Amino acid sequence: ADGNPEKGEKVFRKCKACHMVGPDAKNRVGPILNGVVGANPASHEGYKYSSAMEAFRDSGAVWDEATLDKYLTKPRDLVPKTKMSFAGLRKEEDRQNVIAYLKAHE
Ligand code: HEM
Repeated sequence: ADGNPEKGEKVFRKCKACHMVGPDAKNRVGPILNGVVGANPASHEGYKYSSAMEAFRDSGAVWDEATLDKYLTKPRDLVPKTKMSFAGLRKEEDRQNVIAYLKAHE
């Protein structure tokens, strides 16, 4: 809730191998993350999600801050079989800051 988007930009370097944000963003290994905070999972047009992420969406999940915090801690603890191969962000501060950075990219 009180993350710092400038610090989050540095954390986002870890995500850039697979994700883009901003006006020229394109889907890569992972989907574009513009507008993800507050969105339903697996709702980005033109990206092929795992069936695990589609099932998570269909369960009624929303990417609010608490849900994102869980996913970014250890993706497969929240969405077993997600195809996001990322170990997770161990530090709560890093998670809060990267979520603030994502929030700044509507
Ligand atoms: C999905 C965030 C790192 C690959 C997602 C989603 C979020 C996210 C929020 C769900 C998107 C949606 O529902 O539209 C992040 C953040 C990262 C990160 C903040 C860094 C801290 C990575 C890395 C990779 C990756 C390093 C590649 C090695 C993917 C893939 C998906 C995904 C493939 C789709 C998952 C599926 O369909 O199961 N990511 N991610 N992500 N991410 Fe990441």
